[in-house]
Amino acid sequence: MATKDKTLHDAFYETLKDVYYAEKQSVRALKKSAKAADHEELRQAFETHAEESANQVERLQQVFEIIGKSARAKTCEAMQGLTAEMEEDLEDFGDSPAADAVLAACAQAVEHYEIARYGTLKTWAAQLGYGDAAKLLDETLQEEKKTDQLLTQIAERINVEGAAAEGGSGRKSA
Ligand SMILES: [Fe+2]
Repeated sequence: MATKDKTLHDAFYETLKDVYYAEKQSVRALKKSAKAADHEELRQAFETHAEESANQVERLQQVFEIIGKSARAKTCEAMQGLTAEMEEDLEDFGDSPAADAVLAACAQAVEHYEIARYGTLKTWAAQLGYGDAAKLLDETLQEEKKTDQLLTQIAERINVEGAAAEGGSGRKSA
């Protein structure tokens, strides 16, 4: 199809395929992060969101159904990059006291990517008249935002505890 013949509907379908890929990848990344995390709350957050994300994958399948297209994934370069960075960070920091902070940071980078994508998809779905799809996409969007906020709270605690352990915080450690 010539570029000029493409519509917002095509953009919606392409982006949906991108997020479908990213979401499946994120389930895997979250499970891996849960195994690597030392901090109990962080580990819990990863496990909970891995389950939530599996449900989000199903929601995306419902959206494909609503628009009458088959559920197909298209390689998402952004997500691949984020996952590659996570692997690299795990190699560099996996055994260090900063490991949990680094894991939380990687997960938040993924959440922000997803928030951007779901925000766009929700708006486009509404504009294209797919009200039910917009609702499903918004449910996921809210879960991603909640997860991002939770990770911020946990990361702040991890960082304070980490700084105290290193003796670098303003808090007297003994
Ligand atoms: Fe997600």
